[in-house]
This record gives sequence, C-alpha cells and structure tokens, in this order.
Amino acid sequence: MSGISSPVRRSLFLHAPIRRTPRLMLERMLALVDDDTPPDGPDGPVAVLERRLAGLLGKDSALFFPSGTMAQQVALRLHADRRGRRAFAAHPQSHLEVWEEQGYNAVHGLWLRRTGDPHELLTARDLAAIGEPLAAAVWELPQRDLGGLLPGWDDLREQIALVRTTGAAAHLDGARIWEAQTYYQRPLDEIAALFDTVYVSLYKSLQGVRGAVLASDAATIDAARVWRQRLGGGIRDAWPLALAALTGLDTLAERMPAYREHAIAIAAAINADGAARAHPDPPQTPLFHVHLPAPRRAVEQAGADILAEHGLQLWGRVRTNPDPARSSFEISVGDNAMDFTPEEVATLIHEVLDRAAHL
Ligand SMILES: Cc1ncc(COP(=O)(O)O)c(C=O)c1O
Repeated sequence: MSGISSPVRRSLFLHAPIRRTPRLMLERMLALVDDDTPPDGPDGPVAVLERRLAGLLGKDSALFFPSGTMAQQVALRLHADRRGRRAFAAHPQSHLEVWEEQGYNAVHGLWLRRTGDPHELLTARDLAAIGEPLAAAVWELPQRDLGGLLPGWDDLREQIALVRTTGAAAHLDGARIWEAQTYYQRPLDEIAALFDTVYVSLYKSLQGVRGAVLASDAATIDAARVWRQRLGGGIRDAWPLALAALTGLDTLAERMPAYREHAIAIAAAINADGAARAHPDPPQTPLFHVHLPAPRRAVEQAGADILAEHGLQLWGRVRTNPDPARSSFEISVGDNAMDFTPEEVATLIHEVLDRAAHL
C-alpha cells in the first residue's frame, strides 16, 4: 500500500485522515491486545466495550451495531411495536430525517413528526403541540446541525417528562454524548438516565473506525439483538471496530473539557473583528459553526486552493445558507484542531474570505 499519501498535512476537520491512518490506528489497537485476546465471546473486544459503555451510561445492557443509523431505527421500531403507535417526534434537522433516506419509514413503517423550528432547538411548547399519540421522541444532544446547541438541563428534563406522560419513550441520539457532557457537567449515567434508550457513536468523539452502541434495559437490548440480526447487523468478529473505540474511550473521552475550552477560544478569536461569526457564542460544546459572508462555492474553492498550496484542510464540508451570499462550516475540536492556535484559525478564515472575494 506504500505510495498512497494524502495532501493533508494539518487539519481543523475532526475526521481528517491524519491521526486515523490505518497504521496509526492499528498501533493504538495493538497496545490493547495480547496473544490471548479472543476475537469474539464474552472476553472479546466487542463484549468488553458493550459492558464498559453499559456501565458508563448506567444501563443494564448495551449492544454493538455496525452503524448509528441501524441502532436508532431499531430503538424506534421497538418503542413503536411495544406501544402500537407508528409516529415519533424528532427535530427537522435530526440525522434520522436528513441523512437516512427515511429508513424509519421505508424499512419500519414509522412516521416522523418534524417537531420544532428547523433553526432553533426543540421546546416543550413544540412537543405539547403535537396532538397525537407518539411511540417516542428523539433528542439529539448536541444538535449538530444547529452548531452543537443544547437545551438547558431543566428544560430538557421538562421536555422529557412531558413526553413521558403521554406514554411515549424518550430516545437519546447521543452520537456526541461526550461533547454534550462538557456542557451539562454531569456524569454520563445521569444524562442517560433521562432516556429509555441511548445510542452513542464509536467514531465521533471516540475517533474509532465506525460503529455504534445502543444501551437500555435488558429486555429492550434482547429485542434489539433480534432486529440487529434481521437487518444484517449481527456481524461476528466486529473486534477491530470495538478495539478502535476502546482506544478512544481510554484516551480521548477525558480530553473533552480541553477541547471545549479550545473551541471557546477559537470562537472568541473568530468573533473578535466581525469578519466571520462563530455560533453559538460562546460554543456550548467542542462543536460550533462558523458563518461566512461568502457563497458556498467560492468558499469551497478557496479552501481547496489553501489545501493544495499549504496542505491545510479547514473543513469537511461547507454548508449552504438560505441567503446565497453566505455559507458556513463546522469546527468540531478534537486532537486535529488542538494543533491550531485560535489566532491562526482567525487568520485562516480571513484568508478564505479574501480569496473567495477575488474568485
Ligand atoms: C447526530 C447523528 N446521529 C446519528 C448518526 C448516524 O451514525 P452512523 O454514521 O454510525 O450511521 C450520525 C452520523 O453522522 C450523527 O451525526
């Protein structure tokens, strides 16, 4: 495989191929195994990871899934079948709505009630206005497409209590629960205790390869295992994905507060002169958005030129805006973004805007 090299030398983008090359990941994974580590079974990496996450999240049981997409659809399917109800509530910018080709409906016959304003967090008032029996409601904490926004703790509890009184289940899209925890400053199990089912990602905060875990009570996880098998997700020997996640759990989870501090410092540097705008201000989590007064295509081109000339990657993707003269991108601080000083990021954004203006 020698001879394949990436043009990216440094990157603000969490998932840039810098620290996650196969070789570096394999080296980290090797440190966790010895000759006796079994690939499968109760002492294999998947079972170890499931037990650790169940413990951290304070749930009876946890189950590995190859993707969060599958894990969440299974959780909602179970809540729906138990209650004989097909509708669930989720924010219009929920991953389930935007990125999953309506799998909840095509595969499971469920209906998503788009709840709340697409550009604002879900509120108790939005939930109270639903007016039909729900199987479940989904909270994405933090709400990624809103710049990592989170409801206040008491607001969240009020929303969940309201949904529960209607007999619906509460499901947490905790793809980035470690990021959310830096805001709530409560143990993971206290956050997870608010929900019947909790999904966490193995490759976002934890920087693994891929994969997800669903945690809940034992009966729910037993039923989820059946659905995982039906959907083709009961893959044996998923140990490389579990091992990669375990390396992140051992090393990265504890760095989240430092990532959040750095995000706050970067956002302050960006907002210092008003050329661009970091939102929310200050960021609530290590993840926030940078809004630019320049159209998407010009910004993409400027970023591609900076990457080609300096090996510097600034984002994974540039987002459009209802105002075509504006665009935005996400910064999710992890080890990659820790390599950049706040002033350097602000300078780079100026460079993007200068270049975009002259294209
Ligand atoms: C908030 C959120 N939920 C769910 C998912 C789905 O996870 P997966 O890519 O493992 O299917 C993602 C993935 O980006 C996500 O960001």
